[in-house]
Amino acid sequence: MHELYTVLAEYYDVIYRKRAERVKDEIDFVEGIFKTDAKRDVKRILDLACGTGIPTLELAKRGYEVVGVDLHEEMLEVAKRKAEKEGLTIEFIQGDALEINFEEEFDAVTMFFSSIMYFDEEDIKKLFSSVIKALKPGGVFVADFPCWFYGGSDGPIVWDENTDEERLVITDWRTVEPAFQRLHFKRLVQIVKPDGSVRAFMVDDELNIYIPREMRLLADEFFNEVKIYGHLKRRLDPKDRRYWLVAVK
Ligand SMILES: C[S@@+](CC[C@H](N)C(=O)[O-])C[C@H]1O[C@@H](n2cnc3c(N)ncnc32)[C@H](O)[C@@H]1O
Repeated sequence: MHELYTVLAEYYDVIYRKRAERVKDEIDFVEGIFKTDAKRDVKRILDLACGTGIPTLELAKRGYEVVGVDLHEEMLEVAKRKAEKEGLTIEFIQGDALEINFEEEFDAVTMFFSSIMYFDEEDIKKLFSSVIKALKPGGVFVADFPCWFYGGSDGPIVWDENTDEERLVITDWRTVEPAFQRLHFKRLVQIVKPDGSVRAFMVDDELNIYIPREMRLLADEFFNEVKIYGHLKRRLDPKDRRYWLVAVK
């Protein structure tokens, strides 16, 4: 069981509040990619590993027809509730991104916020095959992933967030295994009630680290045109800490 996406799904948007606030900038950037890099008009989008729908809803608000897929029903429940509240029509499907079976249905496929790190080299190839199959000719795949220096930390990283009623204290320990390009990620989430009582959850995760050149080479085997951009700009600079894979069928 993945606690962050199951028992903590209701708290996901609180834990990542700062990122949720930045999502409009991400979607501005991605819309630029749709206009400039895709070789077709983008209208229908498949958002893989859509989670609680932070980017999915923003795309739908801008008039795109969006289908969201995620492995965890608990995340989709949050996404569905938010979409309903906003009066947005989005199709949400529970499923594994590696098992999708769409045929030339989408103008774009997206995978936001490091979700691509869940796939090792073998699985990423399966993912690219499914994405290629799901895309119409000239369609574009967009996925962002962090620089690996971002991953490791000497000591714990701690921050807190508030809901109307509760206070969350989040402590992350992130360790990088350079030889295996793996990021071990332990997170303690403490939920403090107004009466001082605390519930605590421990998340234990393992992610795959990719460097831009490697991601480009892997994607090159599947797509006609592959670029790696830096964060929210259509070029890569030496010190960029987040990368955007842009791959055209
Ligand atoms: C870091 S969250 C990102 C969620 C969302 N894309 C966002 O931008 O907020 C990673 C998501 O990947 C989903 N996930 C992990 N492995 C998956 C898989 N094999 N297929 C589909 N979704 C997956 C998790 O359930 C989780 O919702």
